[in-house]
Amino acid sequence: MPATRVLGEQLSVSRNTVVLTYERLTAEGYLESRPTVGTFVTSALPENALFLKKFSDSGSGFADQDAGERLTARHPVLFQGRAQKVVNPNQHKLSADFWAGRPDPHSFPLKPWRRHLLHHLSVAGAHLTTYNDPAGIPELRKAIADHLGPARGITATPEQIIVVSGSQGALNLVARLLIDRGTNVVVECPCYQGAAFLFESLGANLIPVRVDQHGIDTSDLPREQAGLIFVTPSHQYPMGATLPLQRRAELLDWAWETGAYVLEDDYDSDFRYQGSPLSALFGLDQHDCVIYMGTFSKSIGAGIRLGYLVLPRDLVEPAQTIKALLDNGHAWLDQATLADFISSGSYAKHLRRIRHTYRKRRDCLINALQRHFGNVQLTGSEGGMHIIWHLPNDFPNAIEVQKIAEEGGVGVYALEASAAICLHGDTCSQRALILGYSSLSESDIEKGIARLSKELSTRV
Ligand SMILES: Cc1ncc(COP(=O)(O)O)c(C=O)c1O
Repeated sequence: MPATRVLGEQLSVSRNTVVLTYERLTAEGYLESRPTVGTFVTSALPENALFLKKFSDSGSGFADQDAGERLTARHPVLFQGRAQKVVNPNQHKLSADFWAGRPDPHSFPLKPWRRHLLHHLSVAGAHLTTYNDPAGIPELRKAIADHLGPARGITATPEQIIVVSGSQGALNLVARLLIDRGTNVVVECPCYQGAAFLFESLGANLIPVRVDQHGIDTSDLPREQAGLIFVTPSHQYPMGATLPLQRRAELLDWAWETGAYVLEDDYDSDFRYQGSPLSALFGLDQHDCVIYMGTFSKSIGAGIRLGYLVLPRDLVEPAQTIKALLDNGHAWLDQATLADFISSGSYAKHLRRIRHTYRKRRDCLINALQRHFGNVQLTGSEGGMHIIWHLPNDFPNAIEVQKIAEEGGVGVYALEASAAICLHGDTCSQRALILGYSSLSESDIEKGIARLSKELSTRV
């Protein structure tokens, strides 16, 4: 390379500019300086290490291998299964979409989140470059343990908590822990697709137990041995019942007698509008047979993909091993941000605020349904983010109502069109419509139900 002064004169720029340019090109590996000799273009340009050569350029013989027939069959894909619907494929076509389980898009706690995130970015040190505990950072596990005591009646040490990627991460971890081909797994009917489809994909033998107006019917629990029972006692998904204390006790007795673990999914229990919440099954369990899973998908947002498991002590070690095998741990920055968000009191404040908003939206939906359709039969309205409307006898079935509504730009859903599944065929779901309200403003709820009424009045 020319001397810096010479090149500066040639290009009519200051020598400093040339010096800086040489320094930058040297740092990036394009130039190398040899003391007392000068600056040279490097013989191994960085591009050679960064970008692949095309096979044709490198003269590989791969192209020849494509010709001719393969002699052995390719190994079969062993996975067989289907996935839950968490995204509504039609959402952009609708003017009011009552798809269930979505938080208010404007409710994300941006200000405190940004504050905690920026703080942690500035003090991150080596946390962003090294591995952290795959089970979760200690600060977050402690913050979750402290929150669960007063909120859910759960006494657990931070060591019993594993941070996972939402409930789906928790389900996968527990499934690896307890389910093998042929394992009996009891599920509520109807239940959450995400759980049923996962267990099914691993070859579990699903035993559905009907849900009535109080939740899972404990008198119908199977007598045979089961590895696991998956339940949503706080707000049954999708029917919305809260499991009474008596049934909670019966369920735990059954688990103790048959040797099954209970997997308690507490997905939307932060939203309770009537009466005080019942203690989680984990808090009532005397025999260390309950595994509790919680998610921040509903209370903060599904985009942050954070949830947790609380494990009985004898499952902690194998579960930690599986977590390491699954993903080596969740992103440190997100965990650190969430830990501060909870322990600073911002989370409790955020929950109080959105609980209030969702309660008003629930009331608005119930009022609108009553005004337009008279004495409607609803369940699941004591908490959560959706209600179930049991359609009157003179209405078409739920799938028909869904279609009619969709033509008018309104999204209301038969159970199996949402994230629910009925394993007894469609017998328990034909007359039930699921209506989520948490993501819609009161004015959108009013307009949506008015529109639904108009569309249905021409067909009913
Ligand atoms: C019953 C139930 N559990 C859990 C979840 C949340 O899943 P995740 O935490 O993976 O976002 C949902 C979402 O709709 C749900 O309906």
